[in-house]
Amino acid sequence: MKGVILAGGTGSRLSPLTKITNKHLLPVFNKPMVYYPLETLIEAGITEIMIVTGGVYAGEFLRLLGNGSEFGLKHIHYTYQKGEGGIAAALKLAEDFAGKDKLAVMLGDNIIEGSISRFAAAYEKQEKGAKIILKEVPHPERFGCARIRNGKLVKIIEKPKTPPSNYAVTGIYFYDRQVFEIIRHLKPSGRGEMEITDVNNWYLNKGELTFDFLKGWWTDAGTFESLLTANNLVAKKKR
Ligand code: G1P
Repeated sequence: MKGVILAGGTGSRLSPLTKITNKHLLPVFNKPMVYYPLETLIEAGITEIMIVTGGVYAGEFLRLLGNGSEFGLKHIHYTYQKGEGGIAAALKLAEDFAGKDKLAVMLGDNIIEGSISRFAAAYEKQEKGAKIILKEVPHPERFGCARIRNGKLVKIIEKPKTPPSNYAVTGIYFYDRQVFEIIRHLKPSGRGEMEITDVNNWYLNKGELTFDFLKGWWTDAGTFESLLTANNLVAKKKR
């Protein structure tokens, strides 16, 4: 399995911090934000990793991460996203890198307390399709939210006004190579983005989406509130 970290976007919700750098390079306690998803993938045994980034500060990722030797990697793959387009559009850029392999995809602003190795191992055994990871949160309306009926996942709704559950879809996804074909057929959403939630619902409607629940804390870090939360959680873990 290969890994992809999505670290593009303008980070507009964190302006003016993101006027002078990429969101994923901002500090979270004692490390740049992108270190966390990178370490999560590596801890799960994934060593072939691509970082998808973009914007004016894309070059800074090379300065920071280089060939990944600091993380025990032989090299890191990079690709450049021109302009905006949403998570699914960013993922599409990893198609050649993925080849026939399965992918573990992490959003560059997602930070977790625990490990994804259990999910990666389960997905390795999954014959086809995709896998998403859910986490109970106090504000599910901020995320992709899972509608679960009788223990079955029936739909994912992106930022619902009235959340059907307290389960957020975390930015940790597992995909097979069908994902690129699905992305080719996506239409932009109301916010003008290629939504990863549409990709996940496509797998769901085909009966090819599995899910599991994350243990330990999870946070994104894309708003001032959540960036502060991320800093505090990481600081507490380190102490
Ligand atoms: C994105 C996804 C959403 C997911 C979240 C996890 O939201 O669209 O489904 O729950 O990441 O961090 P965004 O950060 O783009 O608002």
